[in-house]
Amino acid sequence: MSRRRRIYEGKGKVLYEGPEPGTLIQFFKDDATAFNAKKHDVIEGKGVLNNRISEFIFEHLNRIGIPTHFIRRVNMREQLIKEVEIIPLEIVVRNVAAGSLAKRLGIDEGTMLPRSIIEFYYKSDELDDPMVSEEHITAFGWANPQEIDDIMALAIRVNDFLTGLFMGVGIQLVDFKIECGRLYEGDMMRIVVADEISPDNCRLWDIETQDKLDKDRYRRDMGGLVDAYQEVARRLGIVNGNEPPRSGPVLVK
Ligand SMILES: Nc1ncnc2c1ncn2[C@@H]1O[C@H](COP(=O)(O)OP(=O)(O)O)[C@@H](O)[C@H]1O
Ligand SMILES: [Mg+2]
Repeated sequence: MSRRRRIYEGKGKVLYEGPEPGTLIQFFKDDATAFNAKKHDVIEGKGVLNNRISEFIFEHLNRIGIPTHFIRRVNMREQLIKEVEIIPLEIVVRNVAAGSLAKRLGIDEGTMLPRSIIEFYYKSDELDDPMVSEEHITAFGWANPQEIDDIMALAIRVNDFLTGLFMGVGIQLVDFKIECGRLYEGDMMRIVVADEISPDNCRLWDIETQDKLDKDRYRRDMGGLVDAYQEVARRLGIVNGNEPPRSGPVLVK
């Protein structure tokens, strides 16, 4: 078996050189980390579920004209993606108060926000991903004003799509994080959604029971993480096995 060149190993994924120039293979590990990797565990099965759920979401984003890095899933743990120049920001969209926003501003978790709020965090493990404003982003050259506009427009479109997708299967999208990158195609550059979208970077609450179906189960030592991710996959109609998902979302009463 030929050895692939490993480009990067992060907390949850490994990037390998892809089969063609400009492509990468994104491998989903079972590692779970929180609080900037101060907490770390291996949770068997998580990588497979995140690969499938992220595939499902990115495929739908591509289909409705929201540009992403996703090409196709290769196997249970790997997907083929377009290599992009990652913009060093975590873009968070919030619909309901939770997590750090609830804490920082003293708002009860679960309070509906007056409108969707976009936040930016500078991607830096050493600095614990500090929150930054558009002023910092442009002053330090992480992205220019046009790119920030593009990122915000993408984030809102993703939010609208995901909100509806999850609403249809009885799940409230509380908030989520995306990463964006610059995709160069000839002389053209456009901003696309990169990385992953999975219960690792969304807050998903069951509409009926308020059960958490996301990584907060790990952050808060609640257990049942894989069962929760499995439930998200099941409701989205993602079938077990190696074939691409065919069925659509499953409506739950
Ligand atoms: N299409 C892409 N091209 C290049 N880099 C990417 C792409 N998609 C995601 N990445 C980067 O790959 C890494 C994914 O591994 P991950 O384990 O999430 O890393 P981290 O610990 O830095 O969050 C991230 O640093 C992410 O920014
Ligand atoms: Mg990451």
